Amino acid sequence: MQLWKGRFKKELSKTTNDFNSSISFDSRMYREDIEGSIAHATMLGRCGIIKEEEAEHIRQGLREILNDIESGKLSIDMEAEDIHTFVEGELTKRIGDDGKRLHTSRSRNDQVALDIKLYLKKEVVNVRAQLEELIKVIAKKSEEYSDTVMPGYTHLQRAQPITFGHHLLAYAEMILRDISRLDDCLRRMDEMPLGSCALAGTTYPIDRNITRELLGFDRITNNSLDGVSDRDYCIEFAGCLSIIMVHLSRFSEEIIMWCSWEFKFIELDDAFSTGSSIMPQKKNPDIAELVRGKSGRVFGDTMTLLTVMKGIALAYNKDMQEDKEAVFDAVDTVKMCLTAFIPMLDTMRVIPENMRRAAAGGFINATDVADWLTKNGVPFRDAYKATGELVARCIELDTDLENLPLGEYKKVCDVFTEDVYKAISLEYCVSQRTAFGGPAPENVKAQAQRVANSVNKD
Ligand code: ARG
Repeated sequence: MQLWKGRFKKELSKTTNDFNSSISFDSRMYREDIEGSIAHATMLGRCGIIKEEEAEHIRQGLREILNDIESGKLSIDMEAEDIHTFVEGELTKRIGDDGKRLHTSRSRNDQVALDIKLYLKKEVVNVRAQLEELIKVIAKKSEEYSDTVMPGYTHLQRAQPITFGHHLLAYAEMILRDISRLDDCLRRMDEMPLGSCALAGTTYPIDRNITRELLGFDRITNNSLDGVSDRDYCIEFAGCLSIIMVHLSRFSEEIIMWCSWEFKFIELDDAFSTGSSIMPQKKNPDIAELVRGKSGRVFGDTMTLLTVMKGIALAYNKDMQEDKEAVFDAVDTVKMCLTAFIPMLDTMRVIPENMRRAAAGGFINATDVADWLTKNGVPFRDAYKATGELVARCIELDTDLENLPLGEYKKVCDVFTEDVYKAISLEYCVSQRTAFGGPAPENVKAQAQRVANSVNKD
């Protein structure tokens, strides 16, 4: 049943109805739609636009509809045009003429904007809570592996020794930024659009602050055109979700590499791995691969929203109905990814011996040799060059800097003494990197604690 039949003489064709309908994806907002309508009816009653008894009658009817949907007694009609139409139609079916007063001084344009905001505000909080869980797991693991030496990489080439805890904490920083981005997004989203009506506000003596307060919004929108045609909050949330997926995807990529026999830095728990139908030896990091792959969906959803909105003249246009599938898919995907990713990370087995072995190759302590010379008076650029020559000599002799005889060191630069060997032991190298933000075990422990505290405080 359409709400707008008055000026039409013919029935809507089935094709048009199917094409036009959004019920298949907006029905998930039934709670928010009913909650918004209850607040609207209350406001209409308090402002004397409808009678208090009528408002109460409407509220009762809406509460019953909500209960019946939740209990499964009432199923949402998938032939309806959208959730707003369905709820209003059902209300009138149940309570008669008073139901027809609900839509006074309201349009589906401000109604849908309200519903999406109410829905997304909850989802921002849900995603945030999951990110906090992730942070807790990262902080715990970082503390546990604060002195586990591993190779740090640039260009995926072994670069300098770091600690595994330090590496993990880099992800904690990204996730903390994601949380603060969500907080910003929520703050901006927290504006109540109801009362914008179709586009031009209303002549009824409404009080938008009543609805704002009842619905728990911080502010009301300032401009009726913007109130109904803004979807920045969808785009911004999808943007936040996209950046979360960039981080999860990078993390996943590393997990996939670390699981390979080429690295074998970690092993995922059996419960979070899969096998191959043909190769009996395989244990595959499918969860991490799927998270990496699903990042594409979320980026796509963001692109969809940007593209849908970019050419729309003010105010509401039906294009905007396309907002919901995109933003819902983005948030569903991120929540699903986090649900799988967090326990996968929590249960992974770390193999410090393999990290240590990998760190011992590739002249990862070459910078420390140069630094040792510099600390003994040689200008860094000369020290750098001398160390380069030592690396070349090691390659010739098929050895490493730890095992190169002192004689060879002295041939390149006579400043070298026996002390250099202590300075280039990997454990010593990381232990000395104590500048704030660095990988020394004591730094990592302190940082893991700070990170854990930052999410435990509230
Ligand atoms: N189903 C519509 C949407 O999702 C609701 C708003 C309809 N407004 C209108 N003017 N047709 O955007």
